[in-house]
Amino acid sequence: MTKIFISCALPYANGPCHLGHIRSTYLPADIYARYNRMGGNDVLMVCATDEHGTPIAVKADKEKKKPIEISKRYHDMIVRDVESMNISLDSFTRTTDEIHYEIAQNFFKKLYDDGLIYRQDIQQLYCENCKKFLPDRYVEGLCPACGAEARGDHCEKCGRALDPTELDEPKCLTCGNTPVIRDTYQYSFKLSEFEDDLKEYIENNDKLPANVKNYASNWLKEGLNDWVLTRDMDWGIPVPLDEAEGKVLYVWIEAFLGYISSAAQWSRGSGIKWEDYWNDFVVHFIGKDIIYHHSIFWPGLLKAYGCKMPDMIYAGEFLSLEGEKMSTSKNWVIWIADFVKDFEPDLLRYYLTMNAPLNKDSDFSWDDFQRRNNDELADVIGNFLHRTFTFTHKFFDGKIPEYKNPSKEDLEFESAIRKLPDSVGEYIAEFEFREGLLEIFKVAKLGNKYFNDSEPWKAIKEDYQKAANCLYLSNQLAKALAYVLKPYIPTKANEIADIINLENHDEWKDAKVFLTEGYEINKAKPLFKKIDDDVIDYQKNKLKENLKENTDDNMADMISIDEFDKVVIKIGQIKEAEKIEKSDKLLKLQVDIGDEVRQIVAGLAKFYSPQELIDRKVAVVVNLKPAKLFGTLSEGMILATGESGALLTPDDCEVGERIQ
Ligand code: 2FM
Ligand code: ZN
Repeated sequence: MTKIFISCALPYANGPCHLGHIRSTYLPADIYARYNRMGGNDVLMVCATDEHGTPIAVKADKEKKKPIEISKRYHDMIVRDVESMNISLDSFTRTTDEIHYEIAQNFFKKLYDDGLIYRQDIQQLYCENCKKFLPDRYVEGLCPACGAEARGDHCEKCGRALDPTELDEPKCLTCGNTPVIRDTYQYSFKLSEFEDDLKEYIENNDKLPANVKNYASNWLKEGLNDWVLTRDMDWGIPVPLDEAEGKVLYVWIEAFLGYISSAAQWSRGSGIKWEDYWNDFVVHFIGKDIIYHHSIFWPGLLKAYGCKMPDMIYAGEFLSLEGEKMSTSKNWVIWIADFVKDFEPDLLRYYLTMNAPLNKDSDFSWDDFQRRNNDELADVIGNFLHRTFTFTHKFFDGKIPEYKNPSKEDLEFESAIRKLPDSVGEYIAEFEFREGLLEIFKVAKLGNKYFNDSEPWKAIKEDYQKAANCLYLSNQLAKALAYVLKPYIPTKANEIADIINLENHDEWKDAKVFLTEGYEINKAKPLFKKIDDDVIDYQKNKLKENLKENTDDNMADMISIDEFDKVVIKIGQIKEAEKIEKSDKLLKLQVDIGDEVRQIVAGLAKFYSPQELIDRKVAVVVNLKPAKLFGTLSEGMILATGESGALLTPDDCEVGERIQ
């Protein structure tokens, strides 16, 4: 028996859970945990809400609330979401719990006392308008490595952890000002001292998956800098040093320790040692955006502390929605709380697992969700089970019939059933969750084919034993399904077990044990239903509406300052004006813009006679691409209101002056 320490990445307590959280982290962790418990291993599965740091502080600033009010609100929602998806965590705590403060401060203090954390004079971004340092997400800019828009401490595009001073074009998140660089001091961790240990850890660890290994090795090639571990902020765990007044621990160092404090809280007073789990086998389930932190910083800190480094880091790739990147700010997202109002959680667990392997990006689409539910869960797995149970009642009084003189087809099917639990188990143990589910699906499909080919509804009259063998074996597969589906879709697996009258079906090894002849099962109940088109249409519309609502009152329609900067507007003076033949709207104007005279076609004929416009000063967009209107070349645009044609007449400006 192995003791297994399983962790899910700590969600920031600044929003509820959406499909992406479930797909990348909680669901795979739960499948792995449930399987291992069934396999007789001793599992400790932990998580907590990540409640400090700028994500929560920024949200609290916006809502004019205290950070703890925000984090409590979202902690409660996240617990609700995780429970609604049947994620079987043993411990779900908070990084604002007292025990967490104690563990985090002690950890920092030990490394400081050992000389591995040291005080360092550094420069940090400071907003002169807000009069404060701008740690991490208080600043946004462009990633210096890949050029993508990045939050202060992290680039989502390339996954790098960043120092905000490195950002190109930094802006204060609160007021939009460009911050300045100011001298201050912080405490840094001697990460660079552990470069060789980390190389060894990454390169010689066969268990680590390819995506983690590749990212980490590439980063290690660039060399490691020491890591600044403290911040000037009010919200956070105070640095446990008298001299460090007003400084708090950087959220990332203490978030990792949330794994430990969650476990410590779970074991407190029980006599059980969480360390035994850690020292046996540790698996971190994370999203791919935080590989850097888990493959470099965290093992580095653990090594420095003298602790075992994680055995496994499993990083789920991204989930998009209807082909587009998910975005909580644009509301292009499906929240778990909304999903479970309309559908059973197992349908999502099935879909997200089946859709793509965890180490590949995948997409959620409502049509595909419907297709997999209807064609796979309902038509293949559901249909097989339903036929098996109803025929057992119809022809065999609800009892498992005798199995005698098996045909070649019977023997082949029997062998597939017997092999199923081991092969699914092996896949799950190797973190190949989709492969395991595919295997189940394949055998269920085979079950349907076998059932069809055996034609028990005919055979019952012509060849009783053939029908009996068919139902005997079909019930054996149904029983195996109650076990092997349990890590994936636990509620449905329990419903199957209830029909088969299995008192408990908690041990994987029992999946292989066949039901005895004469064993009685309960009446069939519909297990999987098809989803109608109108249900899916409703969901698709809801998604679009949400996006629209959000666009109306938020910023999705806005342009950036850079886009606006591209427009060049100058003061011009109309020198000549004439009507354009066949058009009652357009006038052809010659406009002096300072360094040249431009011909511009303007829709002003309804409001002004040509003569009225001569010598009027106007605002002109001078860098529009030239176009022909009614065959006349136009090289700019005069700014005027649409309804009344009122000109913006900046009479006190000089011709040629630039407005923008
Ligand atoms: O990126 C995030 O959402 C972080 N809250 C993850 C922390 S994981 C760990 F270190 F605890
Ligand atoms: Zn500011």
